[in-house]
Amino acid sequence: MPTSSLFSPLQIGPYRLAHRVLMAPLTRMRAEQASFAPRPLNAEYYRQRASRGGLIIAEASPVAATGRGNPATPGIYSEEQIAGWRKVTDAVHAEGGLIFLQLWHVGRVSHSSLQPGGVLPVAPSAVAIDGVTMTPASSTPQRYETPRALETAEIPGVVEAFRQGARNALAAGFDGVEIHGANGYLVEQFLQSHTNLRTDQYGGSIANRTRFLLEVTNAAIEVWGADRVGVRLSPYGVANGSGEAEPMPLYDYAVGALDPLGLAYLHLLEPRSSGAGRAEVNHTNVPSAMELFRPKWRGVLVTAGGFTADSAEAAVAEGHADAIAFGRFFISNPDLPRRIQRKIPFTPYNRATFYGGEEAGYTDYPVAAE
Ligand code: FNR
Repeated sequence: MPTSSLFSPLQIGPYRLAHRVLMAPLTRMRAEQASFAPRPLNAEYYRQRASRGGLIIAEASPVAATGRGNPATPGIYSEEQIAGWRKVTDAVHAEGGLIFLQLWHVGRVSHSSLQPGGVLPVAPSAVAIDGVTMTPASSTPQRYETPRALETAEIPGVVEAFRQGARNALAAGFDGVEIHGANGYLVEQFLQSHTNLRTDQYGGSIANRTRFLLEVTNAAIEVWGADRVGVRLSPYGVANGSGEAEPMPLYDYAVGALDPLGLAYLHLLEPRSSGAGRAEVNHTNVPSAMELFRPKWRGVLVTAGGFTADSAEAAVAEGHADAIAFGRFFISNPDLPRRIQRKIPFTPYNRATFYGGEEAGYTDYPVAAE
């Protein structure tokens, strides 16, 4: 088998990437507080991280006000938000980079204080997360509430919100979209048996639990064409109350159902770093998602989670993945692809400034000297 390197080109849909160091989607909670529109500071952050022929997957963005779960996350459901994102995509394109948007609905990972009208968040079933919200509207953590189960007749409306989000992303100048099917949010709540107790066509069998994922993916495909739509999944993930007791039958089925669609890519989260957004966890004795699913996926495979320059290069050289998405190190190294290529050490990241705030820990990380 011919081997590839992190710095060999990669075709993703219609795009020829110059290298395989992707920027993972990263919630930073620095949009406009009232409109949830991206602002010039956000455009500058993405501009700094763009590289010629590189691909950024922009942070998870709710497709509806009811899909919100955090303060100051940028949305993709209003004209103001589209206009804000247009500044971001223009800035990335001016650097020669590509940018996809991650389409998001948090489902039960929300709180009534963040919902329009103060109503309960919606989910496949009325099953609460056992724990406290990390980012409620107030600064005091509060227990998660029991969400309201979606009526069957409401589900097409949620699929429609994803379709509209995909259309809005097109209007905002993105190059493609990624469906957020990972980390315990709405799509995953449908997939997994402990959060989906439904008895209609969206619950019960694995095929039924996968139906919502396929419907939102197909809605995005209708807008973009399959080769500009990616899907992110986190088998074996434990974030946000997630966790299927036996993940393989479920994810085998889901990946098998996505494979014939001809997507831009499948994006996996490596189980070792599940929950990385919340804490410095490095789970041991967990399987390798890329090695499990590589044989089951004919298209481009992207994976993320706990990679270093060396392990990323090895994963691509050994053929386990086509590209590696970096999260935390892309926060603290705007010039990460160049640093990897030239073996320049990484700047460490400061977890305290991951979520919320202004320039500090956002646009003030240095680029390495030539
Ligand atoms: C994340 N992660 C994440 N994942 C996702 O699918 N959508 C998102 O919006 C976010 N947001 C987010 C914010 C922050 C601050 C962190 C640290 C993480 C997960 C992220 O994309 C990535 O998969 C993990 O960080 C693991 O990769 P690294 O950091 O080990 O390279």
